[in-house]
Amino acid sequence: MNETLERWSSRRAFILAVTGAAVGLGNIWRFPYMTGENGGAVFLLLYVAFVVLLGVPVMMAEIMIGRAGRRSPMHSLAYLAQQAKTTPHWRWLGVFGALTVFFILSFYSVVSGWSIEFLIEAVNGDFVGLGPAEVGANFEAFLADPLRMTFNHTLFLLLTMSVVAAGVSNGLEKLNNLMMPLLYALLVVLVIHAAFTDGFAPALVWLFRPDFSAITVGVVINALGHAFFTLAVGACALMAYGAYMPDHQSLPRAAGAVAILDVAVALMAGIAIFSVVFSQGMDPGEGPGLMFVTLPIALADLPWGSLWLGLFFLLLLLATWTSSINLAEPMVATLQGFGLRRSRATAIVAGGVWLAGLLSVLSFSTMADVHWLAGMNFFELVTTVPTDIFLPIGGLLIATFAAWVLPRDTALRALDAGPNGFRAWRTLVRFVSIPLTLVVLLSGLI
Ligand code: PFF
Ligand code: NA
Repeated sequence: MNETLERWSSRRAFILAVTGAAVGLGNIWRFPYMTGENGGAVFLLLYVAFVVLLGVPVMMAEIMIGRAGRRSPMHSLAYLAQQAKTTPHWRWLGVFGALTVFFILSFYSVVSGWSIEFLIEAVNGDFVGLGPAEVGANFEAFLADPLRMTFNHTLFLLLTMSVVAAGVSNGLEKLNNLMMPLLYALLVVLVIHAAFTDGFAPALVWLFRPDFSAITVGVVINALGHAFFTLAVGACALMAYGAYMPDHQSLPRAAGAVAILDVAVALMAGIAIFSVVFSQGMDPGEGPGLMFVTLPIALADLPWGSLWLGLFFLLLLLATWTSSINLAEPMVATLQGFGLRRSRATAIVAGGVWLAGLLSVLSFSTMADVHWLAGMNFFELVTTVPTDIFLPIGGLLIATFAAWVLPRDTALRALDAGPNGFRAWRTLVRFVSIPLTLVVLLSGLI
């Protein structure tokens, strides 16, 4: 496979594309419920520490490989391994990444479908006048309805794949340009609104005053997995975007900007959601439904509440759209690497993900008690194992390749941060990111 000539149209476009991949369900849906289930502030603290110590440096490693290879993840790895005169088996890392995003996208599409449902219900005014119990019951009824959920899952996957089939660097740019600033603005409004509720102060305590007795191995592993997930690192998905990176752009600056935005979005979502939790006396450990039952309660009774709520779900949908496009990319690129045309590769990926998604849909009704592994149903399985185990393993291998295998000059050029920046990055990855990920992963296995 030859070097790609495709490029993002500007440095800003590249940063927007990576931000689009990073900001999604991970920030607005997953971060609040994981924080709720994992002891509050300690989870936040660990996750931010992991973002700084491993998420950002490994993100750079991943993008560097794509940028130096300028091919699909699998081909970049094979090509660079050849340059480094080492085994071509590194290319299987690209396949492993594709497998990881397969499982992630299968539930990501289902949960994004929930946003479609809620967008429609909000605009219909269905939440007006409902109390917490009724909003909860409404959500339960939706989850118990596999047909409605399948419809939304299908619709979302079609949206995603129509952009993927056309090639990512075109459609994506316009989408990101419009959506991101609107999403930030709306989150600011939500936080200001939260500040006027009784739950605001307890929410801040819950998020920012750590109770260190709550730390367990499980909490540490969850925070590790979440750091990779939220930054979209560890599955070769950003590697695919790195291949289109412009020639002169400092990578540390871009990665830093993305990480700051990503954490900021999570914090704003967390403040908004936990303020509702504490003003309504709800349970922070409510689980994956947390965002879907809190926000309608918070917003439905405001003036223009249905519109605010509808706008929120619309923006969430756009944010998950840009992330799922990124999730699909390594699979499509890998199949293309095996010689398939892009359109056919996209169709195969869509079909496979759709089928796997059905298992997640049914995990809320007929298959709720079908346990696949360690007492988990399918949805529980795919929302934990790929994130907490596959992404860190992928990240570890990516970091090892970039910091130990890649020839120094190639890596130096791909990072584009000068010799000192390069030395700092490589020292951090070699002696902090890699060992730390290993230690946390191993302690999880034991
Ligand atoms: N970063 C995305 C989010 O926070 O919603 C999810 C994601 C995208 C994970 C791409 C992994 C990935 F490769
Ligand atoms: Na994210």
